[in-house]
Formats: sequence, C-alpha cells, structure tokens
Amino acid sequence: MSRDVRFGLSALGIAFGVFSASAVAAEVPASPTYTRDVAPIFQEKCEACHRPDSIAPMSLRTYAEARPWARSIRARVDARQMPPWHIDKALGIQKFKNDRSLNDDQIETIVKWVDQGAPQGDPKDMPAARVWPTTQEWEYAKVLGQKEPDLIIRSTPWTQKAGANDTWHTPIVATGLTEPRWVRAVETRPGTIKGRKITHHANADILQIDPDAPAAAMTPGRFTEWAVGKGVELMRPDSGMLMLPGSRIGWDIHYSNGGEDITDVVELGIYFYPKGQEPKHRQHLVRMGKTGPGAIDIAPNSLQLTEFYFPLRQAARIESFQPHMHLRGKAQSLEAVLPTGQTVVLSHVAEFDFMWHSAYVYADDAAPLLPKGTIIKVKTWHDNTAAKRGNPDPNVWVGYGGRTVDEMAHAWVNVTYLSDQDYDAEVRARQDRLTRSTQQQQQ
Ligand code: HEC
Repeated sequence: MSRDVRFGLSALGIAFGVFSASAVAAEVPASPTYTRDVAPIFQEKCEACHRPDSIAPMSLRTYAEARPWARSIRARVDARQMPPWHIDKALGIQKFKNDRSLNDDQIETIVKWVDQGAPQGDPKDMPAARVWPTTQEWEYAKVLGQKEPDLIIRSTPWTQKAGANDTWHTPIVATGLTEPRWVRAVETRPGTIKGRKITHHANADILQIDPDAPAAAMTPGRFTEWAVGKGVELMRPDSGMLMLPGSRIGWDIHYSNGGEDITDVVELGIYFYPKGQEPKHRQHLVRMGKTGPGAIDIAPNSLQLTEFYFPLRQAARIESFQPHMHLRGKAQSLEAVLPTGQTVVLSHVAEFDFMWHSAYVYADDAAPLLPKGTIIKVKTWHDNTAAKRGNPDPNVWVGYGGRTVDEMAHAWVNVTYLSDQDYDAEVRARQDRLTRSTQQQQQ
C-alpha cells in the first residue's frame, strides 16, 4: 500500500510542477498593437463566442468592432471574467483539455494595449481572418469516415423570443436503445447555425437504472455538456460509458436572448464501440454532494460551507470536474484525502458564476490517479449576503431545491475505476513520460 501511495502522490506532484513550469508563453511586447499582438489572441480565445451567430453580445473580429469595447475588455480580462474560466490559477491542477483561459502574458498584452490607447498598428500585420464553419457538421463522424453519429438524440423544440430573458428548457427524451451499448465519443451541437445565438449552454444527463453505479442506483449521471467552443468528447483510450436499454436523456438547456425569434433543438450525437468490443475501463459520471430535502440550510445574510465525502473503494482516475450550484454559489473545491491522511487540492473554482456551467476536463497526464481508500472531499461555499452579485434576496433562508432561487451543492465528477495492477501500471507509465519530457526540456 505505501508504495501505491508514494507513486500516486509523486504522480500528482510531478503533474503540478511540470505544468506550471511549461506554461510560459511568448514575451509581452513593449507597445502592443491590435493587428500584430491582440487580434491573434482574440481569434484564438474570444471569437468562438464573440462573432455573429454565436452567444456573446458583440463581435470582436475586426479593429472597428473591438475598439469601442476596449475599456470593458480590459476590465473583464484583467479580472479573469473573460474568457469564462473559473478555475483558481493558484490552486491544484492547471492542465486541462478544454482550457479557454488567457495566460498571464496574454492578459498583460491586452491590458497594456488598452492603457496605451488601444492603437490599431500596421494593417499589414493583421492575421488572416479565422474561418468559422457556416454549415452544420459532425466532427467525429468525419474522423471515422461515417456520415453521422451512430445515434442522434434531439431535445424538444424551443422558441426563444427576441429580447426574452434567460430560460432553462428541461425536456426528457427516450434514447430508444434496446440493448446495452458502450459509448466511445459524444458530440453535442445546436440543431441549426442560428440556434448558436441562443444556446448558451446545454447539459445532457443520462437517466437509467444501473445496479452497478458507484452511487445510489437511481441517481442520474451527467452524460455530457455542451458549451461554445467545445468539440467532441472522446473517452480516454480503452474506456467507455455504458448506456442501458430503456435509458432516457434529461436535458438542461440554457437559452439566452438572440435578438430575434429563434426556434431550435439541441442534438446529442453518440458514437458506439462496435458490438462485441468492450472497453477495459468504464467511466462513471458521479454526482458528489448532498441532495434532497434538508441537504442544505443557509441562514439569511450569511456564508455557508457544505462538505461531502465520497470514498473510492477502488483505485481510480478522475477525468473531469463540474461544480454545480445556483445563484448563491460562491466557490467549490475538489480534494483528495489520501490513505496516508494527506489532503491534496485537486481543483478549486473561485468566483463561481451561475451563468457558466463549465466542466473542467483534465489533460491526459494531469488527470489525478488516486489509490484505493482515497476519500474525495467536495467543499461548497454559498454566499447569501448582499455582496453576492445576482443574489435574489439575502434576507431569506435558502434550502435545497431545483428552482434557481433554491440551492444545490454538488460536483459532477467523471471517475474511471482501475484495478490495483492497472493503477500501478498507469502511475509508472505516467512517471516515465514525465521524466522523459523533463529530460528533453533540460537538453
Ligand atoms: C465561451 C464564450 C465566450 C468567450 C470564449 C469569451 N466571451 Fe466575452 N462574453 C460572452 C458572453 C455570453 C457575454 C455576455 C454575458 C456576460 O457579460 O457575461 C460576454 C461578455 C463580454 C464582455 C462584456 C460586454 C459588455 O456588455 O460590457 C466583454 C468585454 C467580453 N465578453 C470580452 C471578451 C474577450 C476579450 C474574450 C477573449 C479574450 C472573451 N470575451 C471570450 C461569451 C464569451
């Protein structure tokens, strides 16, 4: 056991060290210009949302479009509110598959640019316009050489009226599956290009009665989530999720104002492993947190911490983390209490924002490997004071419930269980890769 723990810890430790060292990007120019220094950052980190037919209120593709927003851009970027990415940069794992945040140099470049009067610079420096798809495509189907996913499940149509407030649309749709199938990839998209203007975010939960689920058998599991800029969700090698006959999809779709009446659905494209091919590892999306009446009790005008413990009865790799709270949600952290009693912060989301429900997907060599007997600890902070932006009323008691004015305090955590042998082998293989890449960097 002690060797397992040592390996597990050092794998974690190495992951922290290597990645913070390699996060160094290009240097910050003394006099940044829009065309040479800022436009490339906007193309890479903002245009996914800030262009016509996407969800942000304004386009940021040209100097003429961006210049009037310079002050606001400086404020949002400097406060790390834009791009939306709420992982605390000072705590825990920093390497993710879907990181859309800016690094420190990019922030400094933008801030300097605005402080120096947001100059355009030489038009010849302007990078070629980034090309965004104008047709609907299934990305992973192209990779596999098939026309579309093996199974497509659509939410029910919703019309978002011009100027309407944010709306949550939550239909439940049968999958129609008649036999168990192993899922190797999931791809979600709004049903039309226009639909992208109103589809702020979409979660798909799988509802199925699963006697082998690690938590209570009847609880739903998050299947996938869609957010702008997020592509295909591939399972890690030799891993899959199991869909059972009779399963249903529970949608939670967040529509926002698109400036015109738009009717759309969200499409969930599912790719299966071929029949008879069973992946070695099964991924479970587990809801970790207290649920039900009495689970949360927040006094008026107060801050509250809610804790939840989830023991790992087998070794495991943690694939992703998605905090879930409502309007008074302030922060959440995911910690591992190792069998030695040492506690490691895996991730901390500070300044949680109900408008953004992001799943943070760990990079392959950063996804924590944890030995059997580890306890996952989820800590959730709620802020029921007037200081919390968007708090509908700090003078009331708040309890658990599904309405946005009620609260929740759980994390969706994607867990792959490993046998002790596989865990050992994974830890050693990762350590070898990291040692090799450190040696290469030193040469
Ligand atoms: C994932 C989508 C997304 C990405 C990526 C993104 N934004 Fe935004 N942005 C939004 C949405 C939606 C809003 C409107 C809601 C809000 O204010 O939070 C917004 C609002 C803003 C605002 C405030 C506008 C106002 O009304 O004052 C600024 C400024 C901004 N974004 C700048 C940026 C910059 C600069 C980047 C890239 C470095 C960026 N955003 C990346 C979605 C995004």
